[in-house]
Amino acid sequence: MKKVKIGIIGCGNISGIYMQQSQTFDILELYACADIVPERARAQAEKYHIPCVMSVEELLADPQIEIVVNLTIPNAHASVALAALQAGKSVYNEKPLAISREDGQKMLRLAAEKGLRIGCAPDTFMGAGIQTCVKLINDGVIGRPVAATAFMMCHGHESWHPDPEFYYKVGGGPLFDMGPYYLTALISMLGPVARVSGSAQASFSTRTITSQPKHGTVISVDTPTHLSATLDFASGAVATMVTSFDVWAHHLPCIEVHGTTGSLSVPDPNGFGGKVQLWTSENRRWDEVPLVPIRAENSRSIGVADMAHAIRSGRPHRANGEMAYHVLDIMHAVHDASKSGRYVTLESTCRRPAPMPVDLPANLLDD
Ligand SMILES: NC(=O)c1ccc[n+]([C@@H]2O[C@H](COP(=O)([O-])OP(=O)(O)OC[C@H]3O[C@@H](n4cnc5c(N)ncnc54)[C@H](O)[C@@H]3O)[C@@H](O)[C@H]2O)c1
Repeated sequence: MKKVKIGIIGCGNISGIYMQQSQTFDILELYACADIVPERARAQAEKYHIPCVMSVEELLADPQIEIVVNLTIPNAHASVALAALQAGKSVYNEKPLAISREDGQKMLRLAAEKGLRIGCAPDTFMGAGIQTCVKLINDGVIGRPVAATAFMMCHGHESWHPDPEFYYKVGGGPLFDMGPYYLTALISMLGPVARVSGSAQASFSTRTITSQPKHGTVISVDTPTHLSATLDFASGAVATMVTSFDVWAHHLPCIEVHGTTGSLSVPDPNGFGGKVQLWTSENRRWDEVPLVPIRAENSRSIGVADMAHAIRSGRPHRANGEMAYHVLDIMHAVHDASKSGRYVTLESTCRRPAPMPVDLPANLLDD
């Protein structure tokens, strides 16, 4: 099958794993990279043996590139993605799809008009950990899913991140930062969400940076940092989700899914592997379940490879724009529900992504 040439825009922290892993899929050819800071693109190209270093404009104008992988900061996700679509290229964004619903909608509309694809991180749900849970649920092992819990709680990032201010500004906060992993995993197991309620608060009005080089700088907190949400899935299952930067310590699991005949302990959705445990009313104990035989190590870019296969064969891709927009819509809806004191019925929906094939070599995602 003809390879799909990709160009990466944004050569910062997360780009290394994409550059390394994208070269492990037969369908992808990592052809070019670009950054508004050209030295970053040059350094990454040298490290990961990428043939072409370009300016952003050159990369967008290169007719050989079919997919732009957009690894810029969240504030630039929409402008870079819209420029790529305008240039006639499919685009795969890091999460979140965009910051505002309006920008997300613009991207979906433009891609549909031009017959192009939009993909979006996270693609961790395509790893062995969550896919084992998807298979157990599809096989009916816990019966009909009725409930789920999801907890992502910590005390924020000002103790280690060199420049943590954006986490406390609009578009930051724990839900926009980590929610995409949890929500995408839940949707891959339970399908789309129909309505949400939520309570959101900022428990601390300021944060003091204790990492270097900004040690001692005080940040004003302009966005909620503790959000407790109820998610009513279209399937009828109800999930409780808490995301927080206000909690020092806890003992709660990342995700559990509870069904009519059993419960499932789901691994950290920010990884590809992890431990899956199953409790059934028949066995009445927690047993570890072996993972399905697909990638369990950090394979960021598997969503890009899946989209490339899908472009060639015409099938839907799994980490797609509709699902990422639904995730964005849910995150906004939780904030909106808290502000209004009411349930918010979602206007968006998406399909549950197809399970991953488990009988192919690791470098292939389609026969
Ligand atoms: N760092 C992580 O561990 C991590 C993990 C998962 C997801 N992400 C996501 O990946 C994305 C990037 O995060 P990061 O940590 O690599 O950030 P970063 O700041 O390290 O890198 C972003 C890069 O994009 C470049 N850039 C910004 N605007 C641009 C534009 N308009 N055109 C071209 N280049 C531009 C910057 O110069 C920078 O080199 C974010 O959406 C983040 O949410 C990061």
